[in-house]
Order: sequence, then C-alpha cells, then structure tokens
Amino acid sequence: MNIAIVGTGYVGLVSGTCFAEVGFDVTCVDIDEKKIDDLRHGIIPIYEPRLDEMVKKNVEAGRLHFSTSLADVIDDVEVVFSAVGTPPDEDGSADLKYVLSVAKTFGENIRKYTILVTKSTVPVGTAAKVKEAVQTALD
Ligand SMILES: NC(=O)c1ccc[n+]([C@@H]2O[C@H](COP(=O)([O-])OP(=O)(O)OC[C@H]3O[C@@H](n4cnc5c(N)ncnc54)[C@H](O)[C@@H]3O)[C@@H](O)[C@H]2O)c1
Repeated sequence: MNIAIVGTGYVGLVSGTCFAEVGFDVTCVDIDEKKIDDLRHGIIPIYEPRLDEMVKKNVEAGRLHFSTSLADVIDDVEVVFSAVGTPPDEDGSADLKYVLSVAKTFGENIRKYTILVTKSTVPVGTAAKVKEAVQTALD
C-alpha cells in the first residue's frame, strides 16, 4: 500500500519512517522546502533514537520518499495521513488552519477513492470540519 504523510515534523517523520520500515511505500510531504531538501540529502531535522539510520535504510530501499507537494503524489497513494501542526490559537484552542488547508488540498486533488486520516491532535468535532473542507473543495 502507498501512503502519503502530510507534515514531516516529529509525528509525520517518525510515523512515515515506521510505516516504511514495516513495508509500506511512504512519501513524506511538507511545505517547508528546506526541510524536504535536507531530508533528501540525509539531514534529519529532529532527534529520535535510531531515526537517522531508519530513514537512510528505507530511502535506500526505495520505500521512503520526500516531496513538497501533496498534489504531485496523491494519485499514487491510497491513504493520506495529515500530521501538520495544531498550535494554540489566540484563545488557547487548537488552531486548525493547517489541518483544514490539508483537507482543502486533498479535496482539490483527489481523483479516486482515497482515505484522509487526521493524525494531528484536534478537538472533538474536527472530523466534521475536515469533511466539510474536503466537500467544498470537491464541489
Ligand atoms: N510532537 C509530539 O510528540 C506530538 C505527540 C502527540 C501529538 N502531536 C500532535 O501532532 C501534530 C503534529 O505535531 P508535530 O510535533 O509533528 O508538529 P511539527 O511542528 O514538528 O511538524 C508539523 C509540520 O507540518 C508542516 N506543515 C504545515 N502545514 C502544512 C501543509 N499545508 N502541507 C504540508 N506540511 C505542512 C510544517 O512545515 C511542519 O514541518 C500536532 O497536532 C501535535 O499536537 C505531537
């Protein structure tokens, strides 16, 4: 199965690398061009024990890829995990703008049955907002 992980931070990079380690074909996507360029050159932006060797091993095995564009990879995946940040909003609640931006891009670009999984930490009710953002982009 082919998977895209959107948001290549602590959660996205670790999850994507572990999915690749167990045999899935994974593309980690991020809008941060420097981060993706660094990862393509084997530079890991965070520290987790053994993460660097696991990234290297799975890149070399052809199971782990990096991209700055979900639109470029969405036709080739069955599942998209959204692992973007949810920083505190002005009132302390989770700011969902990155989560909803991914939902919009997803809706604008899917051309076949594709599952969107929200892996970011989000409040109850977010799934309905994500669904609405996808539906609006599809219409
Ligand atoms: N770090 C943890 O240990 C941890 C644990 C549990 C839950 N979480 C939750 O997981 C989510 C992600 O946390 P994190 O620590 O990995 O965040 P992070 O800030 O390390 O990474 C988020 C990444 O998303 C990217 N991004 C933002 N908008 C994007 C877009 N539209 N398309 C592609 N990439 C985009 C950013 O450039 C960044 O690299 C948050 O909701 C957080 O609360 C984190």
